[in-house]
Amino acid sequence: MAGEPEVALKPRTVGESQSEMTELILPNDTNTLGSLLGGRLMHFIDLVGAMAAYRHSRSHVVTASMDHIDFIQPVFVGDLLTLKSSVNRAFSTSMEVGVKVWAENTKLGKYRHVASAYLVFVAIDGEGNRVKVPELVPESASELRRYEGALRRRGNRETESERRRRARLEPAGEGSVRPGRSENA
Ligand SMILES: CC(C)(COP(=O)(O)OP(=O)(O)OC[C@H]1O[C@@H](n2cnc3c(N)ncnc32)[C@H](O)[C@@H]1OP(=O)(O)O)[C@@H](O)C(=O)NCCC(=O)NCCS
Repeated sequence: MAGEPEVALKPRTVGESQSEMTELILPNDTNTLGSLLGGRLMHFIDLVGAMAAYRHSRSHVVTASMDHIDFIQPVFVGDLLTLKSSVNRAFSTSMEVGVKVWAENTKLGKYRHVASAYLVFVAIDGEGNRVKVPELVPESASELRRYEGALRRRGNRETESERRRRARLEPAGEGSVRPGRSENA
């Protein structure tokens, strides 16, 4: 694994990489009912998450995973979407980033929480080799809670990947899987 200069590995606080973006939702972003497409929202979540990971690692990053997302409430044309991201914990070459999304009804000036997600980004250099990331230093009680939660979620992700890996290796029972459908399991 390629090493990064020592200065880049200086521990960083959450505030140093916290990121935010705002998007005006236009007809091109929406479905036939005029509400924001789920895939478009996931794209915005990925982007704002990458901004925090990029700022923390000061390196290229790729998305390794995005956890379960609930689309809590619809977002409509004309709403302003605000997305905030923070690094919850840095591991060796990966970082868990939390993203929270609010929609603002601009006429009423009312905000509603519409989605939240956890993503894992991996830092890589220009040749695609994984690189070490600086430690994250949690400061407030809520940062510490998210820091501890990130370790638990990493364990859950590993358990789930192992379960899926084993499921792929197990022979399907005769006639239990329709041909061509097994990749969706
Ligand atoms: C993500 C990727 C770099 C991991 O590479 P890999 O060779 O499988 O690496 P490893 O299994 O050794 O894991 C490397 C790190 O990634 C983490 N990781 C790997 N797969 C993961 C997953 N599915 N979810 C969460 N973390 C994951 C590991 O926990 C490890 O973290 P650590 O170094 O902090 O301990 C590689 O799978 C990849 O390039 N994927 C494509 C990424 C991409 O194109 N994303 C979409 C566009 S940006």
